[in-house]
Amino acid sequence: MTKALIRHAVREDFETLLEIDEASFPGGVAYNANELAYFMNRDGAETLVAEQAGEIIAFLIMEVHRNRRTATLITLDVREDHRRSGYGTLLMKRAEETLRDYGVEVYDLQVDIKNRNAVRFYNKHGFTVVRTLPKYYANGNDAYLMVKELERA
Ligand SMILES: CC(C)(COP(=O)(O)OP(=O)(O)OC[C@H]1O[C@@H](n2cnc3c(N)ncnc32)[C@H](O)[C@@H]1OP(=O)(O)O)[C@@H](O)C(=O)NCCC(=O)NCCS
Repeated sequence: MTKALIRHAVREDFETLLEIDEASFPGGVAYNANELAYFMNRDGAETLVAEQAGEIIAFLIMEVHRNRRTATLITLDVREDHRRSGYGTLLMKRAEETLRDYGVEVYDLQVDIKNRNAVRFYNKHGFTVVRTLPKYYANGNDAYLMVKELERA
């Protein structure tokens, strides 16, 4: 990966983020436009994008519950042809810097238990499985609820 820029998403990015999400997940699991807009616009939501030479390669949505010092990683999507090149890690590290600044101590996520690459990725980054959520996804797949404690900066 040559130098990537991490920035907050702007309105003009929306269609690209939708396209990346649709390409990353099976039908019924990928967000439609309404769902993506809903998650991006929720209270406490922040969307970060990783850009390379003007092209968005990956994005992450998190939702911060500042009063509870917790957060949820809503999604993290990397374009298929750029996976395993460090973009996911880069976005996650930047997200965690922001979460620490907000005083977040622990954050969580849900991931399809069959999505082995993502589970491996999150394990590598310090998440542990706390529970299985049966039939969590629209296609009937179960999810793992995974949690990570953030060390203080
Ligand atoms: C999961 C995902 C976000 C990881 O992002 P990435 O940019 O590819 O990951 P990075 O290059 O930063 O990190 C790579 C690490 O993740 C894990 N990993 C990612 N893809 C993997 C694969 N195909 N096979 C094995 N391990 C994999 C490994 O631990 C790997 O480390 P290693 O290369 O030292 O073995 C990305 O694969 C993706 O967008 N997947 C589709 C969407 C998705 O499932 N998102 C997560 C659910 S919310």
